[in-house]
Order: sequence, then C-alpha cells, then structure tokens
Amino acid sequence: MPGVTMKELSKRYGEVGAVQGLSLSVEPGELLALLGPSGCGKTTTLRLVAGFLTPEAGEIWVGDRCLSSPAAVVAPERRRMAMIFQSYALWPHMTVAQNVAYGLRFKPGLARAARDARVREMLRVVQLAGYESRYPGELSGGQQQRVAVARALVVEPEILLLDEPLSNLDANLREEMRFEIRRLHEAFAITTLYVTHDQAEAMVISDRIAVLERGRVVQVGGADEIFLRPRTRFVAEFIGRTNVIEGVAESTDALARGGLRLRVAGGLSPGAPAAVSIRPHDIALAPTGAAPSGPLDNALRGIVKRASFLGDSVDYQVAIAGTDVVLRVVTPAVRRFGAGDAVALTIAPAACVTLGAEGPA
Ligand SMILES: Nc1ncnc2c1ncn2[C@@H]1O[C@H](COP(=O)(O)OP(=O)(O)OP(=O)(O)O)[C@@H](O)[C@H]1O
Ligand SMILES: [Mg+2]
Repeated sequence: MPGVTMKELSKRYGEVGAVQGLSLSVEPGELLALLGPSGCGKTTTLRLVAGFLTPEAGEIWVGDRCLSSPAAVVAPERRRMAMIFQSYALWPHMTVAQNVAYGLRFKPGLARAARDARVREMLRVVQLAGYESRYPGELSGGQQQRVAVARALVVEPEILLLDEPLSNLDANLREEMRFEIRRLHEAFAITTLYVTHDQAEAMVISDRIAVLERGRVVQVGGADEIFLRPRTRFVAEFIGRTNVIEGVAESTDALARGGLRLRVAGGLSPGAPAAVSIRPHDIALAPTGAAPSGPLDNALRGIVKRASFLGDSVDYQVAIAGTDVVLRVVTPAVRRFGAGDAVALTIAPAACVTLGAEGPA
C-alpha cells in the first residue's frame, strides 16, 4: 500500500491562486483529513491528486511512481485511484448492482461471474446485500452514499479520495456514517485523503489532520495535537472555540496586555508581540474570595456579562476587571452565575498555549 506525496503544488484559476505551494504527505495506509474553510483549496487539491486538474507547478508521487511533474502527467484512469464526490454521482437509470459494477468498466478482462461476485461482496461489506435491484431514487441518502463507497472500493484502488462525502446527510446519519467510514478504513487500510470542513468529522474519522488556509498547509498532526497545540491563531480558532489574547511578552512565560498579566506555557520572545490561545473549558469560575487552586495559576477577577445555559454546560462571557478583555468560559452546569455577578477566574499557565506567526507550516 503506497502513500501519496505532494510537493510544492500550485494551481491558479485566472487571478485566484487556489493552491499555493502545497506540500503534504499521506503515509501508506493512513486516512488523512484535509480540513479548512470554504474556498481554501480542498477540492482543488483532491482534483490535482486525482488528475482531473493539472498543476502549474509541483509534483505528485504515489510510492515511487511520479504521477505529475512539469515534465510528465499520468492520466486519471491510470492513477489507480477512486474518488467519491459530495453528490455521490450515481447513475439514476442503473440499479445498485449496475452502479457498483460501473466502477469496474476499466477492467474489461474480468469475467462476468467474477465481476458479479465482486459486486455482491462489496455490497455486503457496505451492508447493502439484498438491495442489488433497487434504483438510487429508491434509496435513502445514507444508502446512496454506501453505493458510492462500494463503487469506489470495488476497483481495489491504491488511493481513495473523498470530497465531503457526508455533507448531504442529516446530522444523525452523518455521525453514524463517520463510524462506518472509519470501520471500512480499518478493514481495507487504503491510503485515503478525506476532504471536509467539519472539524468534528475530521477528528473522528482521520489518523491525522492537515489544516489548509488559502491554498497552503498550516499544520499537520493528530486531532489532539492540533486541538491542544495549535500553531497559529487561524488553527486555534478554526478547531473549536477559543480565546485569543494578544499582547507583549514580558518574559519567555509571561504576557502583558494593558492591566492584564498572564503566566503562559512558555516559548515567548521577551519584548516581542505575542499571542496565546485559552480554551473556554480550561478556565475555572468561582465566587470571589475562593482561593486559587495552584500557586502558579493565573488568578483574575471579572464580571459576568452573559450566561447561556446549554444543558450539559454553561457558556459565559466574563469581562476581566481593569482590562478590555472579555473571555468566553464554558463550565459544567453545576454552579451557575448570572449576568452582573462578580467572579474569580483561575487559568493554569499550561492552558495558555503560545501561538506562532501566521504562515505555512
Ligand atoms: N473552476 C473554477 N474557476 C475559477 N475559480 C475556481 C474554480 N474552482 C474553484 N475556484 C476557486 O478556487 C478557490 C478554491 O476552491 P476549492 O473548490 O478548491 O475550495 P474548497 O476548499 O473545496 O471549498 P468548499 O469547502 O467550499 O468546497 C476558491 O476561491 C474558488 O472560488
Ligand atoms: Mg470543495
């Protein structure tokens, strides 16, 4: 099972640089999620890998085969890849079995009985045995999606490319299908590039996540790494909610902003502008007068501006005394404060994650 390597890929549409010097490796047998906001170049990247688009610059390798370079480009049907589109692209006039068999059209040497057996086996794998004679219009969205998966897998591709394959499904089905895709990946271990703009989906499905911003990779890593140690403000704010505080570094582990002084995780350059990210659930709220939990913890005072009860948690906005900073704080729904209440806030330095300068990884 080979991996995929993209080196300094670039693709423009007229004035728009959709992909701008993108470098990324998908390890053999890995499922890597390409995650980023609308328009950041995810679909363009996938189409470059599939060969539906030709880059102006850069190279694409699968194992030790070069598929695309300024010197030579391999045609899509010779890349041993399968792609699943957001719209499934099933043929409405073909039955389920015919749609899956359509994936095998480039294998003319395959005898009919062998082909039928492979189609049946694939439909069993995606849990659609018995649906062979139905038409796509007679299936639910999730079932159509499974047909598209079966059609992609039946050709035994080396590389699987998926472009937001779950975005047409309702929320419950989408969650179920995340586990289904992960299960299939564990069964087949095909090297997979999975495009999504949904961070929860990326976290559940993938081995690693590559975050894209304006046609470039800004961070690659496991879900925990990207969430707990975002490299830049863009990544911190895109992966879940966070508070970003900008100021000046007083020392390697202290940030000052007006009247606010925060002890942080470290890595600051004294005297230089600095920024840290603090997740809303990493801030503890207590009535004023409560003692801070650790001697090094940041102990702040504030006034609750807004409290929203969300069932299993409470979402607060707290204005920090003597500063222009308003922090988002999320606590378990055990103790509730209301707007106007004075509160004590505790933040461990380790929860104040230093952010680096914006730019490609
Ligand atoms: N055929 C095209 N002609 C001109 N511009 C295009 C074309 N396709 C894409 N673009 C532009 O290139 C940029 C990247 O588009 P792309 O489709 O790769 O984004 P994406 O990350 O897949 O977004 P989404 O999450 O909305 O699907 C966008 O600014 C888009 O408007
Ligand atoms: Mg897209």
